[in-house]
Amino acid sequence: MAIQRPKGTQDHLPDGSPKLSLDTQASAFQDVQDTARRVLSRAGAQFVSTPIFEEAELVKRGVGGSTDIVRKEMFTVYYFGDHGGFILRPEGTAGIVRSYLQNGLKQLPSPLKLWTHGPMFRAENVQKGRLRQFHQVDYEVLGSADPLVDAEAISLMVDVVSALGLTGVRVKLGSIGDPADRDAYNAYLRELFGAHVERLSDDSKDRLERNPMRILDSKSAGDQALIAELGVNPMLDFLGDEARAHFQAVQTYLNAWNVTYDIDPSIVRGLDYYRRTAWELHHEGVGAKSALGGGGRYDGLAEQLGGPLVPGIGWAFGIERLLLAMEAEGLDVPASGGPLLYVVALDDQFVGHAATVAMVARQVARAEFAYRAVKPGSAFRDAGRRGAQFVALIGSDEVQGNVLSIKNLTTGVQSTVPTRDLNSFLGDHLEQTGTAAAHGPAVPQENA
Ligand code: HAM
Repeated sequence: MAIQRPKGTQDHLPDGSPKLSLDTQASAFQDVQDTARRVLSRAGAQFVSTPIFEEAELVKRGVGGSTDIVRKEMFTVYYFGDHGGFILRPEGTAGIVRSYLQNGLKQLPSPLKLWTHGPMFRAENVQKGRLRQFHQVDYEVLGSADPLVDAEAISLMVDVVSALGLTGVRVKLGSIGDPADRDAYNAYLRELFGAHVERLSDDSKDRLERNPMRILDSKSAGDQALIAELGVNPMLDFLGDEARAHFQAVQTYLNAWNVTYDIDPSIVRGLDYYRRTAWELHHEGVGAKSALGGGGRYDGLAEQLGGPLVPGIGWAFGIERLLLAMEAEGLDVPASGGPLLYVVALDDQFVGHAATVAMVARQVARAEFAYRAVKPGSAFRDAGRRGAQFVALIGSDEVQGNVLSIKNLTTGVQSTVPTRDLNSFLGDHLEQTGTAAAHGPAVPQENA
């Protein structure tokens, strides 16, 4: 058998590939990225991109030593002569905050809204919607602790799922308070679970020491039974006055904008940097335990990385999970479509000429050409299979007359067009049908 891709990774494939699903369709990925770009750039977010590997120290300090990500799921990068001090990034936030600090982005107007998309790596147990290389759309706002920024961030996340056409999404909103609130809660949990250590899973025994809150997030059925039995008080009961007022203000904005959400006192999130507002978006299509996306405020992260105090907040979606949810709702992403023009030579000596005609047409639209001469019948069949709108045939009459015989495959109408008028002929069609977006040559730009 030929070499296979590593477990927990996926190939993103061209339209029409056999056994294609939305989460492996490259054009569907692009559609999600384009939708996010549209929604986020209109809100003033600028695209950034940071390295796929970072210093191990950044991930350890950023994401936190008590998390599963740092303890069990890091991919370490080795190269000749190196000690393995780099990590494939498990998420985007720590790298973006590092970049903000390192590149003096504090000088830009504040709050600074940034977004990115790209692959992330976690050595997880692989299952549906849980991969080792997955992709996120990530939005971060740096420089403001105002609850209005939190509410706007949550609302933008909802805007992205709505723009994708998803309807079955629920926002679960919570707060994990300020560090002192969390210390008080962890002390309470340590005492509560401390009396039942023998019933905790090995992982949770460990968590009892390091970060008892993480026990609440345990995947062990025994731990969950104990949690239910003990009737654990939620973190929300431990919020101090400031965190409580902040949480209330976020809700007031969301209510004013009719953003629906459920308060979920059990939100703990899987990363250590969070403070105050924390939330997740859920959808039945990706399973009850898995979130479509999540986010929160991380006002202490920049200091944790050795920088000054820079309040921040952000969120990330898993693109594969968005696509699984879309598939579950029966939404699909239209295939990218065929060329506007397919140019075919009827004789081998004109193949180069056909290529030249297509290349000139690319100034206004997507144009392809046949690499070998074929008869008109197969030219039409081939063009149809490729989803072309027009076929241009080039035989000796056309070359001598400096014209093209063009057939519109939708209407069946044939016409003779002077070669030098081809681009205005195609341009008129795009204008009349309003299909410039589908066929035009515009190369998508980040933040376009
Ligand atoms: P996270 O909750 O760890 O947060 O991940 C965000 C989303 O990434 C998850 O809700 C899920 O959709 C997707 N995801 C995570 N792990 C996997 C996986 N193994 N396979 C497939 N999808 C996965 C963060 O990463 C934070 N950086 C979000 C954030 C940004 N907070 C503040 N700013």
